Amino acid sequence: MKNRFENKHVVITGGARGIGFETAKQFAQEGAYVSILDMNPESLATAKSALASVSKTIFVYEADITNRSQISDLVDKLETQKPIDVLINNAGIAEETPFLEIEEKNWKKIIDVNLTGYFHISQFVCRYMAKRKQGVVVNMASKNGLDGEFGYAHYNASKGAIIMLTKTMALELAHLNIRVNAVCPGYIQTPMSMEIDSPEFTKNFVDRYIPLNRPGKVEEIAPLFLFLASTESSFMTGQVMIADGGQLAGQKPSI
Ligand SMILES: NC(=O)c1ccc[n+]([C@@H]2O[C@H](COP(=O)([O-])OP(=O)(O)OC[C@H]3O[C@@H](n4cnc5c(N)ncnc54)[C@H](O)[C@@H]3O)[C@@H](O)[C@H]2O)c1
Repeated sequence: MKNRFENKHVVITGGARGIGFETAKQFAQEGAYVSILDMNPESLATAKSALASVSKTIFVYEADITNRSQISDLVDKLETQKPIDVLINNAGIAEETPFLEIEEKNWKKIIDVNLTGYFHISQFVCRYMAKRKQGVVVNMASKNGLDGEFGYAHYNASKGAIIMLTKTMALELAHLNIRVNAVCPGYIQTPMSMEIDSPEFTKNFVDRYIPLNRPGKVEEIAPLFLFLASTESSFMTGQVMIADGGQLAGQKPSI
């Protein structure tokens, strides 16, 4: 096993389940000191016990990335414990609603978590990284940030905006030796996608859209975050890595 993150402090949002949990686990397996932030206390407790045998340096914090003052205080605390080397912005929510029926409160909720929450924590963490002239941020975007999906106007808009936030942060922070990249997964089986989609929907979706003929697994996404956070990607910034089973390559056969 590689040990690319020995002695590095990795902060990951939404790390209590799904892609974030697997990513936290893989960072820990490579020696990182990991701080998981998540707003769901039950998932955090489950994650904590599941990770206890993986590493002694995984810590969990109940926090809501949309709460700016709470996140500011927590980042100060985490920095005191150990200066932050890597920020993984992964927390996110989704819901399916036709564009004409989206209510303002639901629009605001999605944008608040999936975009503004990333802004809050990134700003606080990067102010510390800027003083040290060192750091890495990897943002969770989505294939839906590059190519829309029916029924997800607010979600798609939030993920497209994350790609632009990533590029602009990369431009502005490069002289401070802070790299910023994004990951765009396609359809991945996680608690989130399984809550939204029935098995029948998933089968039809895969048959129709995914050339590799299956949904992705969390184990296939986490390594992209590790690569973008490691020195193996030291000349990459402002980039978007796509892992979508070929969905964006084009259309599958029509019969
Ligand atoms: N599953 C997919 O197919 C897929 C595809 C592309 C992108 N993504 C993105 O990957 C990320 C993780 O998705 P997942 O499928 O693992 O979902 P998930 O629901 O399994 O995990 C998301 C985690 O984020 C946490 N969270 C939500 N709002 C939060 C907040 N305000 N503050 C702190 N934590 C919060 C949740 O409690 C949960 O533990 C999301 O940003 C999602 O949009 C998922």
